[in-house]
Amino acid sequence: MSAFDISMEDGVAVVVFDLAGEPVNKLSSAVKIEFEALLIRLRDDAAARALVLISGKRDSFIAGADIEEFSALTTQSEAERLSAEGQEMVNRVEAFPKPVVAAIHGACLGGGLELALACHYRIATDHPKTVLGLPEVQLGLIPGAGGCQRLPGLIGLRAALDMILNGKSERAGRAFRLGLVDELVPPSIVRQAAVAAARRLADRPPAPRKPRGGMQGLVLDRTALGRRLVYRQARERVLKKTGGHYPAPLAALDVVRTGLEQGMVDGLVEEHRRFGELAVGPVSRRLVQIFFATTALKKDDGVAPGTAVPRQIRRLGVVGAGFMGAGIAGTAVLNVEVDTRLRDADLPRVGKGLASATRILKDRLDRRRLTRPQFERLTALLSGGADLHGFSRADLVIEAVFEDLAVKRQVLSEIEGVIRPDAIFATNTSTIPIRHIADGARHPERVLGMHFFSPVEKMPLLEVIPTPATSAGTLVTAVRFGRRMGKTVIVVADHPGFWVNRILSPYLNEAALLLEEGVPVELIDRTMTAWGFPVGPVALLDEVGLDVAQKAGRVMHEAFGARMKPATTLERLIADGRLGRKNGRGFYRYHDGHKAGADDSVYSIVGVRPRTDADADMIERRLVSAMLNEAAMASAEGVVRSPRDGDIGAIFGIGYPAFRGGPLRTIDDSDPRRVVVTLSELANEFGERFRPAAALAELGQRGRRHYPA
Ligand code: NAI
Repeated sequence: MSAFDISMEDGVAVVVFDLAGEPVNKLSSAVKIEFEALLIRLRDDAAARALVLISGKRDSFIAGADIEEFSALTTQSEAERLSAEGQEMVNRVEAFPKPVVAAIHGACLGGGLELALACHYRIATDHPKTVLGLPEVQLGLIPGAGGCQRLPGLIGLRAALDMILNGKSERAGRAFRLGLVDELVPPSIVRQAAVAAARRLADRPPAPRKPRGGMQGLVLDRTALGRRLVYRQARERVLKKTGGHYPAPLAALDVVRTGLEQGMVDGLVEEHRRFGELAVGPVSRRLVQIFFATTALKKDDGVAPGTAVPRQIRRLGVVGAGFMGAGIAGTAVLNVEVDTRLRDADLPRVGKGLASATRILKDRLDRRRLTRPQFERLTALLSGGADLHGFSRADLVIEAVFEDLAVKRQVLSEIEGVIRPDAIFATNTSTIPIRHIADGARHPERVLGMHFFSPVEKMPLLEVIPTPATSAGTLVTAVRFGRRMGKTVIVVADHPGFWVNRILSPYLNEAALLLEEGVPVELIDRTMTAWGFPVGPVALLDEVGLDVAQKAGRVMHEAFGARMKPATTLERLIADGRLGRKNGRGFYRYHDGHKAGADDSVYSIVGVRPRTDADADMIERRLVSAMLNEAAMASAEGVVRSPRDGDIGAIFGIGYPAFRGGPLRTIDDSDPRRVVVTLSELANEFGERFRPAAALAELGQRGRRHYPA
């Protein structure tokens, strides 16, 4: 079946790309063969004086290369060839004897932008869905079809590096200002405007583009000395951001440099060589797996397909207008545009909650992600009160009151008294078993957990927790709603700590035990950020709140016994009036809300002297092993439905290093047998809490892995 449809308009061949059976256009080998044949035909067709390339998909130009195709490659030379072939195709467009105009509406990403860059003129729609970018580094790759060569030439070195090294997409308006796009038009006329531009170019070649970047651009982008400075600074920025764990941005920098300093021919060779190297490398493999896992989760409703119908949520009620409640309300209004009512014990608290929910919207307005009318419309969806007025019409109520079983049950009973019998009740508890809250409910089949992470508007994960009594319809409704809120949703079992806090607990507790031994705060945190976490465990304790962490620690201790016996560290700090960032006093010092250095008085509070002989390797081994062991154990208990869910939960919920693929993947990669040996050594030295999980030992003995090979 043809992916392209050609029609003639005023001597211009309009090529419509519309890949059959796919929601978006992707570039694959099959598409390439067809496109190249089409180019030859149109080159020889005297009736076609120029070409317009446009998409037949709604709101999407070309989403990029077909990731399935290159993830199936096994050797570096195959991957190199794929990139070289992409380069050839794009070169043919650039060298095409007739003008080629790209008419861009919707996502123009990766290979799609590389193709557009080789066109002779680019028109984009001024629509919010139109974004242009080279996101390859997010998959551990570099643009491999000439993007590293053409983008710097078009928009200048610094702007190009900013896009390529960060995998950042630009909206149409900014793309126009950068010089990436030649013309900006409303979607309704993009096709006509492109045909007109093509005819214009066929009559008269375009004037040369003016170099971008003004005086600074002249010095920094267009002199060898200036560029050297730019390369050096870009490299430093990349290393700071990636800790050296992600090779793609550095490779992209080398490739851009080769092209600019030695010419396009050498640049293209370096580009496909490095692409090939990265595509079969471990980091890209992990990042691509994560991409596939999140894509699969977007289609996974947590129930067998066709077994339950999701309920439509037109009205949301949120009980508890505190930190989490306000975050949930603001995020729901922003992303789902749902009528939302907040309830708290008194009006001042409701007012505070409404204000912080509105701040989420205001932030989008300030960053121009919302227009003023959109902002006004969305804020009008938010309301609140100290009574249950309006709750009778809610389809879903999410509870985020104090972490106290009696209070939560009281709230559930009150809510059940006013809501429709078919409405759903979700609790955002972080530690209380959902079935205990649901116990005594009139409709336990409509009760479940929706565990958000803070801050709700930023954290990408949601754990949805059904109880044995929860109906499939309730579950699928919560999963769908969470997804519409913009979350990646994993369905987890109703076990203490669910998944994320379960594997986080022994890790944070191990950090607290290290502190008890006098291991310096900053050494612990530095060791773990060097391992790839975005923040260290001690800084994380400060963020979570020491009181909150202590409470969770107790719950876990009660559930799992000696293995999770809390260190005394938190208790001592709390007794000293330290709650972490929220009261400006924790393991770290805070000035005007900004974290300063570690607070040295912590050691005397804990009753130790800071050690100078602490060993980073041992810190890493203890902390990582504690988490891996717990992950293996919880996974074997069925807390998550699959290793995929567990790994995604860890990456999105606690920032587990993505390049390591998640804790279960880490165990597989390092071989369960070796993890067992390490744990046994640690158990001998530091105690039973490191005793390897039975499930892990069994994997090792059988030579098995969590994932199929
Ligand atoms: P918070 O203390 O900021 O907010 C709780 C709010 O609930 C307060 O405004 C309080 O006035 C209100 N409230 C208490 N009883 C009420 C009642 N009967 N009716 C109406 N309102 C009532 O607490 P936060 O941090 O927002 O936590 C709320 C829930 O979310 C807890 O269950 C907590 O475990 C959970 N959670 C907290 C996370 C966090 O990082 N803070 C993360 C994930 C879950």
